[in-house]
Amino acid sequence: MSRRDCSRRDFLRICGLATAVSACGPAVCGRAAEMKKPIFRFAVASDLHYGQVKTPFTETTENLVGWLNTEKKNKGLDLIILNGDLVHDSPKDYESLKNKHLKRLVVPYYTTKGNHDFVDENAPSTAQAWKKIWGHENNHVVKMGKFAFILADTSAPHDGGPYLAADLDWLKKQIAALSDADAIFVFMHIAQRKRGVQGWPKWGLKRQKQIVAGEAVMAFLESQKKVRAIFHGHDHNSTSRLISGGKPYFFDSHVGGSFGNRKGYRIVEIYAGGKMSTYQREGATGKVMNTHTL
Ligand SMILES: [Fe+2]
Repeated sequence: MSRRDCSRRDFLRICGLATAVSACGPAVCGRAAEMKKPIFRFAVASDLHYGQVKTPFTETTENLVGWLNTEKKNKGLDLIILNGDLVHDSPKDYESLKNKHLKRLVVPYYTTKGNHDFVDENAPSTAQAWKKIWGHENNHVVKMGKFAFILADTSAPHDGGPYLAADLDWLKKQIAALSDADAIFVFMHIAQRKRGVQGWPKWGLKRQKQIVAGEAVMAFLESQKKVRAIFHGHDHNSTSRLISGGKPYFFDSHVGGSFGNRKGYRIVEIYAGGKMSTYQREGATGKVMNTHTL
């Protein structure tokens, strides 16, 4: 077989491998290449801390928009989840974050509420306040085809300190209603385990009541076959994966704020047949910081 049988440059390596084992016609090469191409790609980025004093928050937010739009252009991107701490304590900053910056994202995006995402104290509820800003409530499910994305609030309305367990009853209802989903991904800004337990990172739950409730959230999610992964923000220094109950918990460092590991975002790629992989990309260099299968 000639390499000319493969019409796209990306396919050349696959065609070469196929040649070694058998005659590979264009159709075979095409199928092999399609198997290498994700059927769905999404990005997770957290902790923009837009508006935090003494940080270049305009620049870091613009960086994020550029990184993710470049992902869309180069490899395709179907969905973005911004996993909390979009602003830094001031509800007044949502408007400029949304209308000056995030509106230029060329991919649909959804948000979780982080502990620095204070909402209007006069709003009837956090759910209504969040919906007024972002078009969906602070506990929300996004469905795209056979994939479901659960966005769960783990923070107080106007107080950065009390880290909270997600609403377990709400989670149970949502997952019960997702029986037709092939895979479920859960996004919660704050890790649901106490700091240091089983190697969990620094900024997990603190108060005893919340620690007990958080363990119940984790135990439930870990019992759910279709839950493929849980994603957290909040820990600016955490970039990789932890395992509990057979489920992977991923962190993606941070985009803004005053401290933390190398800034970047996480990509998840889903392939036909259900295989998935994820890696974090350092924004400034494009370097892949770690890779895992789901
Ligand atoms: Fe946070």
